[in-house]
Amino acid sequence: MQKFKILLCTSVLALGAGVGAAQAAKLTLYCSAQEDWCQLMARSFEKESGIKVNMTRKSSGETFAQIKAEAANPKGDVWWGGTGDPHLQAAEEGLTQEYLSPMRDQLQPWAIAQAESAGNRTIGIYSGALGYGYNTELLAANNLPEPKCWKDLLKPEYKGHVQMANPNSSGTAYTTLATMMQLFGEEGGFEFMKGLHANINQYTKSGSAPIKAAARGETTIGIVFMHDAVKQAVKGFPIKVVAPCEGTGYDIGSMSIIAGARNLDEAKAFYDWALTPEAQSLALQVNAFQVPSNVNSPTSDKAPDLASIKLIDYDFKTYGSSATRKRLLKRWDEEVSTLPQ
Ligand code: F6P
Repeated sequence: MQKFKILLCTSVLALGAGVGAAQAAKLTLYCSAQEDWCQLMARSFEKESGIKVNMTRKSSGETFAQIKAEAANPKGDVWWGGTGDPHLQAAEEGLTQEYLSPMRDQLQPWAIAQAESAGNRTIGIYSGALGYGYNTELLAANNLPEPKCWKDLLKPEYKGHVQMANPNSSGTAYTTLATMMQLFGEEGGFEFMKGLHANINQYTKSGSAPIKAAARGETTIGIVFMHDAVKQAVKGFPIKVVAPCEGTGYDIGSMSIIAGARNLDEAKAFYDWALTPEAQSLALQVNAFQVPSNVNSPTSDKAPDLASIKLIDYDFKTYGSSATRKRLLKRWDEEVSTLPQ
């Protein structure tokens, strides 16, 4: 932390000298994690650095689309959180810029691997496994069997009981789509998505919305990252978390500096701070149960244990590539979302 404070002081002093006292240091943060975590990160960084943060929360795919739309006249400085695939796509399309943080040597190998595969235009900040959760009371009230596998969700008795997000807007839902491609092959994966579509009651914009709806009793099952389901269970809702029997995908939540950032020094100061154990441990205050990327950051004992979950060897290079993400989303739009329910 001491090291970070010195770094931060140097950059803030430099900003003060260069920009002049009249212009307060500021940062525009695009955030794709949970709203409460985004708020806490923004307010804590403001307090720590004196830099004013203007934060907007949008889902991963939506933020990617916004950064792309703004590319000729970038408005954001840092994109923090959200699934790694669209961050990789942004890197490939030159929408984000290279940065080598002095905090790198404290990070897990998977966080560095993500950075290296993108020419250091992004970096891993947390990780979490995909799965689903269900409302135990609604399941019992509807006399439904306990689902344990992905393929259980295709059974006709679950019709109208399953909710997931739209993979165009949500990184969670794109991770679901890419996971099915990797578990069942592309044709088998699309057959799965078509079968699932028959049981879906709503495609939401945000990835964690389906499990919040399940907690409120508005849907029985929500396909989400397991840590988002644990969050609802910890709040006291009757939610059971499932690690599907076939195995499952996972995400490397990521952070990137936007190409052409207007507040580049502030962006780097935020980036370095966000990789410290102190910043990463803020997650625990808002029940964000991902695995943090700094090896010295604490992981909650309630976080799903990634070592005990059957994880696929998720191919980030392929599924985070611009060509593959565009093609799969187009196929989902044309072949799945248009089917009658
Ligand atoms: O913060 C919760 C979380 O599930 C992250 O782990 C993930 O990166 C992000 O939300 C994805 O959100 P969305 O699906 O809305 O893009």
